[in-house]
Amino acid sequence: MNLKSIAAGFSAIILSITASAQVITGEYDIPKVPEWAKNAVFYQIYPQTFCDSDGDGIGDIKGIISKLDYVKSLGVDAIWFNPFFDSPFQDAGYDIRDYYKIAPRYGTNEDARQLFAEAHKRGMHVIFDYVVSYTSMEHPWFQASAQQEKNKYSNYYIWTDNIWVDPPREFAASFIKGYGMRNGQYMRNFYYCQPALNFGFTNPDPRQKWQLPVDHPDVLAMREDLKDVLRFWMDMGADGFRADMAGALCKTTRTFGNEQFFNTNENATKLFWREIRRLLEAEYPDGFMVAEWSGPSEALDDCFHVDFFHWFNGYNDLFQKESWRILNGVSEGHSFFDAEGLGNITDFLASYMAQYEQTKGKGYISLPLGNHDNARLGNKRTDKDLEIIYAFGFTMPGVPFIYYGNEIGMKQLPTSWPQVEGAYQPRNGARTPMQWTPGKNLGFSTADPSKLYLPVDPAPDAPNVADQENNPNSLLNRTRALIALRHSEPALANYAEFVPIYAEKNAYPFVYARAAGKDVVLVMLNPRAEASQATFNVNVPFKKTKLLAGDKFDVKRDKKTGNVTIDMPGQSYAIVKLL
Ligand code: GLC
Repeated sequence: MNLKSIAAGFSAIILSITASAQVITGEYDIPKVPEWAKNAVFYQIYPQTFCDSDGDGIGDIKGIISKLDYVKSLGVDAIWFNPFFDSPFQDAGYDIRDYYKIAPRYGTNEDARQLFAEAHKRGMHVIFDYVVSYTSMEHPWFQASAQQEKNKYSNYYIWTDNIWVDPPREFAASFIKGYGMRNGQYMRNFYYCQPALNFGFTNPDPRQKWQLPVDHPDVLAMREDLKDVLRFWMDMGADGFRADMAGALCKTTRTFGNEQFFNTNENATKLFWREIRRLLEAEYPDGFMVAEWSGPSEALDDCFHVDFFHWFNGYNDLFQKESWRILNGVSEGHSFFDAEGLGNITDFLASYMAQYEQTKGKGYISLPLGNHDNARLGNKRTDKDLEIIYAFGFTMPGVPFIYYGNEIGMKQLPTSWPQVEGAYQPRNGARTPMQWTPGKNLGFSTADPSKLYLPVDPAPDAPNVADQENNPNSLLNRTRALIALRHSEPALANYAEFVPIYAEKNAYPFVYARAAGKDVVLVMLNPRAEASQATFNVNVPFKKTKLLAGDKFDVKRDKKTGNVTIDMPGQSYAIVKLL
């Protein structure tokens, strides 16, 4: 019996029940974001491995253009492209050598202009990856900066003034010595080949003259150059950007005992992003800003429109079966969405709710459905496991982002997979070619398989788009249905209210409400293999219920207390509208 089938029993009675925990009000504030982005769902494309049009084994822009109808057919509103700029590719293109040039292996700037225009033609928006916390060491700014003679770019990066004297002990940064003829050590941001751009120090140590203040003229000049980069791509037709390592720009030093530590200074960093927000508002009012910050209360404070809820304690426990930490031998616990049923949704919820409450109405938190830095969600998971994860992802508030290939359940490939361009495991196993058809290279490329950027999934039953197109019950079609549902139900809008209803430590299911005015939708998730039961209250009146998506389950309502008891089969979910 499902909610729909028992609805008749309720139909005559309108009950008003007061939830003991949280109250559904149906109230919400829409954050100040460009109109097109208010309710947008994004698709993430990794240019290396989406579609290879010229048979060289690496994806390219023409290939992406040829697949835009497919992307549109998913029901998404916008696309985020990982970096496609000129680069020596020591970190998959995050190490930018020329901000103003598309990497030749992907095509030309003209191709990019066409890509943006073709996406727009189909009613989709596009954002690019704006990488400002560092460049490649092959960037001409850094090459000039590494010179012995002082020049315009000497202070564009963070250099100490004596190669023999180590800088104070680092906390969130470290220094590399011996590069170029300059007598100093430079601060790296991630890999050694990614020198940190100089956004200055909030409290420069007067004894360390190389620590420039955040308003030093050279720091400000560098910032102006970065603004021009933004203008260039916005003029090309981009609708906004995702900012890489957004929170890590300005530096600060702290002294503990005799030791000094470096850290990033978020308050000063925010001021830079506010300037960028003002720039967009003045020059590109439809421009959209997405942060890789993992600090929504900071990032959404009049800076970004969206922040990824990503590098958080709760995130790995939520989705990651084997996070990179597990691959490195340290277990992170159990994902709530694993059939083994050992997860704990309250860990995630505690950190999520703290951020959600602080940022409601100011901007969106995004729970990415996979990305290029984590193991794929399809990591020893079935399509059903994934469907339940997507039911969650597409019914939570904020802007959903889905990583290419996850809509067909592409798998995380083994840890023995070749490492390429700084994609150490598990990132390599999550960046393999998109699987379009059965047969050669799974339709990604006509190249000899040995020439592929990364090998394709060798499994005989590797999922592919063509097969799933023909099956109405495929994960692909179910993903489409979930995206369509999000768009058609006002209560599932990005900005609509979110109220946890049943979330108990180490227990299943997880139940929450989404609400917009009088529209209320309940989402119930029981990813574990065993059945589960929950009793809860909702405080809104309803006559009947309608199952919008998911599986059948039993429900009873106690007339006296108004309590609802649901019994859900193992591995099931239900998205239910209260009518
Ligand atoms: C961001 C990118 C990641 C890259 C890192 C350093 O976290 O998402 O792929 O390696 O920045 O560049």
